This record gives sequence, C-alpha cells and structure tokens, in this order.
Amino acid sequence: MTFYSRVIGTGGYLPEEVRTNEQISQTVDTSDSWIYERTGIKSRRIAGPNETASSMAEIAARQAIEAGACDPEEIDLIIVATGTPDRIYPSTGCLLQQRLRIKNCVAFDIQAACSGSIFALSIADQYIKSGIAKKVLVIGSEICSRVVDWTDRGTCILFGDGAGAVLLSASDEMGILSTHIHSDGEYESLLYCPNPQAATEANKQEAGYINMRGNEVFKVAVNTLGRIVDETLAANNMDKSEVDWLVPHQANTRIIEATAKKLKMSMDQVVMTLENQGNTSSASVLLAFNEAVRDKRIQRGHVVLLEAFGAGFTWGSALIKY
Ligand code: COA
Repeated sequence: MTFYSRVIGTGGYLPEEVRTNEQISQTVDTSDSWIYERTGIKSRRIAGPNETASSMAEIAARQAIEAGACDPEEIDLIIVATGTPDRIYPSTGCLLQQRLRIKNCVAFDIQAACSGSIFALSIADQYIKSGIAKKVLVIGSEICSRVVDWTDRGTCILFGDGAGAVLLSASDEMGILSTHIHSDGEYESLLYCPNPQAATEANKQEAGYINMRGNEVFKVAVNTLGRIVDETLAANNMDKSEVDWLVPHQANTRIIEATAKKLKMSMDQVVMTLENQGNTSSASVLLAFNEAVRDKRIQRGHVVLLEAFGAGFTWGSALIKY
C-alpha cells in the first residue's frame, strides 16, 4: 500500500514584541524607506527574554495537534528544524517532546538554516511513505534576534523570530506529492554564523552572529529557486498553471517576485508574511503556510508549492496537494 503524507494540522507562533524599521533606524544608519524598498520588510517580531526555540515550538505544535484532532501519544516522530537551538544538546526536538509529554516517539533536530523546514518535511515524508511512521510533527522554530548583530545594518534589518508547525499523517488520500532538497557547501563564506564555543585558534575572535554578503546571496538565491521550480514541476509532470499557491521562504520580496514570475503567477497567489515578520529562517515557510490555511486561502485540493533557500547553501521544495 502506498501512503501519502497528508497535512492534518498546522500551527504558528509569533512573539509579542514588534520591532519596526523606525526603531532599528534609531540605532543603525538606515531608514524605513531603504529597508522597505530593498526587502519588503516593515517590522519583525522579537522573542521575549524567557522565550526559546522550544517554548515557541510548543505553542505552534499544540495548535497543529489540536487542528489535527490528534492524541499527542499517536505521534511517532518529531523533527525540529532550527539554527538557534535552546541547547547544543539535548536537541530542541527532545526538549519539545518533554514539553508535550510524549513518551513513545523519536525526536531530533535538523539544521539546514532557512531551508530547514523543507528538509524536515522531506525527511518526514520518507518516514511516512516507507511505513515507518504514521504521524509526524514538523516544526521550524527560530530566535534569530539572538544571533543577529544589532550594530550590522546589512543583517539586523532582515531577521525575526517565530515558529511554524505542521502535523502529517499517513493517508491513502494525496498529500505531499514530492520533495526536493539540495546543498552545496562551497558557499560557507557568503552566509554563516560562527559557534564561538567550538572555535579554533584561527577563528576564536569571531562573535556568534550572522555574517552575510547579502548582494551575492541574493543573486544565487534567485537563480537557484528558479531551477527548483523547474525540477519540482518536471518531477510531477505538471504545468505551472496547475499550481494554486506559492508559499516561499520569506527572505526578500524581490527574490519572491522572481520565483512568482518564473511560475507566471500573480502575487495574489503568493503567500506573503515578510512585511510584518521579516525572515524567520526555518520557521518562515511553515508560518506562511499556517496563515494561509487558517484564513482559508489554501483549501483542500489546492496544489501548493513550498520552497526555501538558506545558508550552506541549502535549498529545496515540497509540492503538496492540500
Ligand atoms: N540601510 C542603508 N544602506 C544599507 C543598508 C541598510 N540597512 N544595508 C546596506 N546598505 C548599503 C551598503 O553599505 C551599500 O552601500 P555602498 O554602495 O555605499 O557600499 C549599499 O547599501 C548597497 O548594498 P548592497 O548589499 O548591494 O544592497 P542590496 O540591494 O543587495 O540589499 C540586502 C541588501 C541585504 C537587502 C539584499 O542583498 C538581500 O536581501 N540579500 C539577500 C539576503 C537573504 O535573503 N539572506 C538570507 C538568505 S536565506
């Protein structure tokens, strides 16, 4: 019997504090109009001092579990995508398992920077399709604000905090049609975040903040995301016109517009959360997906293309019949 991974619940969480472009322009040399024109961002959410990736993940996860009318004990596997884990270990997945009080399941983290939730969806899909797992919780949760150098105007304008979740169930009805994930480790120098605790003599001066050559990242992202669209459609023998929604990683409006153009899609078919959330890294695709499911833009039967690009570089897509 062939199983599909069907989305049965979604969830999302954004911290309370809103940090606007105006507020950032009081501390670094930038302006609301520069940030908005170059990125599409007006504000982002900032986690409170007592919040962590696992505490935000818990709220998003509980929503997804409730929406899926699922007994938490039925969950076989928890995969958390995060680049900002609470601790090096235990994994944020295990900490979430503790918070949800689920005894009999496996939990782990995966780290693929902003592509993390697509990688996690891909892993979850393999476990379900092979019959190993029946219910899998996939989370992207990030506290980017703690790894951003708030004196660096090239990066601090971009990132925000939050968590997104989906609950997948094995089903004979269609669900995830295909996932495609890739990486190319040659691009470390364009986008990286040091881990000061594991530093060598040579790099021990580096602080644990995001380093990015934004302009170069931008160009690779546009080209790569164009290719992943072609790859995904070809794998499913599908035409652009059959895709109802694009749910992109929310990094920059201009990158997203280029992908929409490639799909010959109007921006009305693109789920955008960037303006008031910024780039929430691995959380962004699932946060956007949750928003459009909950406000009923995405309906059962719609074909949805999720895609992301991040440090590594990593990139990937998931085509879902919702
Ligand atoms: N405010 C005002 N000026 C700024 C600025 C800011 N916040 N950040 C950079 N600048 C300046 C630069 O110093 C540079 O000045 P110069 O010409 O005097 O040297 C100028 O603006 C142009 O910089 P550049 O980096 O070429 O700008 P850009 O148009 O590429 O926009 C980003 C910068 C970061 C917004 C853009 O490159 C981007 O979004 N890149 C992709 C990043 C991304 O998505 N990363 C995550 C991937 S998951």
